[in-house]
Amino acid sequence: MNNLDLSSEREITARAINSFAHTHDARLRFLLQTLVGHLHQFASEVELSEAEWLQAIQFLTATGQKCDDVVRQEFILLSDVLGLSMLVDAIEHRSGVEATQSTVFGPFYIAGMPERKYAENMALIPGSASLITGYVRDAAGNPLPGAILDVWQTAENGQYSGQDVAQPHGNLRGRYRTDEQGRYAIRSVVPVSYPIPTDGPVGDLLQASGRHPWRPAHLHFMLDAPGHRRLVTHLFNDDDPYIDSDAVFGVKDSLRVVYEPRFASDPLAEQFDIGTDFHIATFDFVLEATA
Ligand code: BEZ
Ligand code: FE
Repeated sequence: MNNLDLSSEREITARAINSFAHTHDARLRFLLQTLVGHLHQFASEVELSEAEWLQAIQFLTATGQKCDDVVRQEFILLSDVLGLSMLVDAIEHRSGVEATQSTVFGPFYIAGMPERKYAENMALIPGSASLITGYVRDAAGNPLPGAILDVWQTAENGQYSGQDVAQPHGNLRGRYRTDEQGRYAIRSVVPVSYPIPTDGPVGDLLQASGRHPWRPAHLHFMLDAPGHRRLVTHLFNDDDPYIDSDAVFGVKDSLRVVYEPRFASDPLAEQFDIGTDFHIATFDFVLEATA
């Protein structure tokens, strides 16, 4: 007969932590034991009721049920609105190396999107034309030819292709490469601010907390170059009304860019066959070496 007094909260916590003591993988053991300790501490501190715990379980169940195999990942969304994604991002990039800052990945990336030529237009539906251009370099300032920029953004209706079935395959998505000088150029439309999906449990959470669901306008990037660490980031429109209140805490000042208006008569419009008034943003990326 076990004579430990299980009515003591501390004893319950100690026993639960101990039950993971034989986890073979040392890191996994550390993560599990620390997690259980913090979870128990939280429940004791807030004096969690059974009804509240049941509500939390129902919330997490609904979060899982909202996920699908294609574009909807409600758990990433949950992590994002809790600020956890950005905290993990900050921990992952503690190195202090001088490189372009990263930000949240988000749930709308799709792999295998079309390879696009230098300055090819990835907007398959007309909109407010934009040109984004600059260099990709290493931390010493050397250009990185052949770097890949995997890019995605919403259409002017605030939805991503894949999420919005009315958009053609690959709309506002694509993989660009830097040229021999390490330059890239992307033709697109000026990004717009948009609300993250609110038709699931994360939307209910925002509503219950009086929080808005908006993200400031941005263009997503995932950059890869041999010998360099992958960079996942965005470029944010500097003048966006939500720039200081991103629903997922992703904005970093170094990632803000200004879209400057240019006329159709601008030499760049001719060079890139734009044919209308457009906006231009420039940004140079710096990648961190892996070794
Ligand atoms: C996005 O920018 O695509 C995104 C990021 C976090 C949550 C929802 C959307
Ligand atoms: Fe986005």
